[in-house]
Amino acid sequence: MSSVVLEKIVKKYGAFEVVHGIDLEIAAKEFVVLVGPSGCGKSTTLRMIAGLEEISGGTLTIGDRVMNRVAPKDRDVAMVFQNYALYPHLSVSENIAFGLRIRKVKKEQIAESVADVAGILGLTDYLDRRPADLSGGQRQRVAMGRAIVRHPEVFLFDEPLSNLDAKLRTQMRAEIKRLHKRLGVTSVYVTHDQVEAMTLADRIVVMCDGRIEQIGTPMDLFNNPINTFVAGFIGSPPMNQIDAKLTYDDKGPLADIDGVAVRLPALPELKHNEGRKIVVGMRPEHMSITPIDDASELPVTLDLIETLGSEALLHTMVAGKPFVAKAETNGKALALEDVTSLRIAAKEIKVFDGETGMAFGHPGTA
Ligand SMILES: Nc1ncnc2c1ncn2[C@@H]1O[C@H](COP(=O)(O)OP(=O)(O)OP(=O)(O)O)[C@@H](O)[C@H]1O
Ligand SMILES: [Mg+2]
Repeated sequence: MSSVVLEKIVKKYGAFEVVHGIDLEIAAKEFVVLVGPSGCGKSTTLRMIAGLEEISGGTLTIGDRVMNRVAPKDRDVAMVFQNYALYPHLSVSENIAFGLRIRKVKKEQIAESVADVAGILGLTDYLDRRPADLSGGQRQRVAMGRAIVRHPEVFLFDEPLSNLDAKLRTQMRAEIKRLHKRLGVTSVYVTHDQVEAMTLADRIVVMCDGRIEQIGTPMDLFNNPINTFVAGFIGSPPMNQIDAKLTYDDKGPLADIDGVAVRLPALPELKHNEGRKIVVGMRPEHMSITPIDDASELPVTLDLIETLGSEALLHTMVAGKPFVAKAETNGKALALEDVTSLRIAAKEIKVFDGETGMAFGHPGTA
């Protein structure tokens, strides 16, 4: 399997630059997910790797070959799209075989490869059907079969699951993960769904406006977001971000949240900045409705409880903005008036600069 290396990759449409010099090294066999809001340049980046878009600047290397000027069919990559792009008049078996047929692979070998791939993807019983007679999930499997059968060096996926309903999406997500474990093909996967990104990726690349904000393992990004953008993008429900002012007492830094003092982690960067505007980040899962050691307390009035079963989402307002906490239900329904304050330990709190949005005490920026 091949590595994929992007160096200072730029995409311009006329004078309009949409990808601004991206650097990204994907190791052989790695599963990398590009995630970010609509229009941030995920598909464009993927299509440049595939050769479907011309590269305006920088260098793309797959394995040990510079690919900028190599035709898509000679790059040894296979792409799976959101809309499957199957041939409606061909059977499942003919759809899977198509790429091999145009490459003039021998008939017996095609039959063997198609049978193999159909076995892997659970399509053996459907080989004679047309795409119209399949479910969405089965169609998506055929699209993957068509990619797998060529034994490419690199798989490229562009939102392959977004046409499926929620349950099927979860199921196919697990299948893609299993497939990657089994075949070990270097994969680049585009999605705007952060849950897909978290569950599939070896490493996640968070993009915004044609730039990379942060690259890291799912837990890196969850535990140490580099700025408020990444903090708000990774995690569900997202991290609460509260505007506050930095103050101190004799024990160290505090956040002044509308007059309520909340203990902050004692980061060296937070010294000597009395009155500085900060953003305090609190993940819903770090909030507690019962007393915990060394925790600050935020008085709250709940306005809504969403019970999910083993957990509930508690909705309130803090400093004039919506705030969500997650609580265990232990099998009992909570009432609004049961909760009058939320607690959080200082070590769980993230602190961002109020002007730049950059994290204080980030391992990558310290
Ligand atoms: N042919 C084109 N001409 C001009 N601008 C384009 C063209 N294709 C895409 N763009 C612009 O490039 C930017 C990046 O688009 P891209 O399709 O890569 O976004 P994306 O991250 O995949 O978004 P989505 O999640 O909506 O699919 C967008 O601002 C888009 O409008
Ligand atoms: Mg896209």
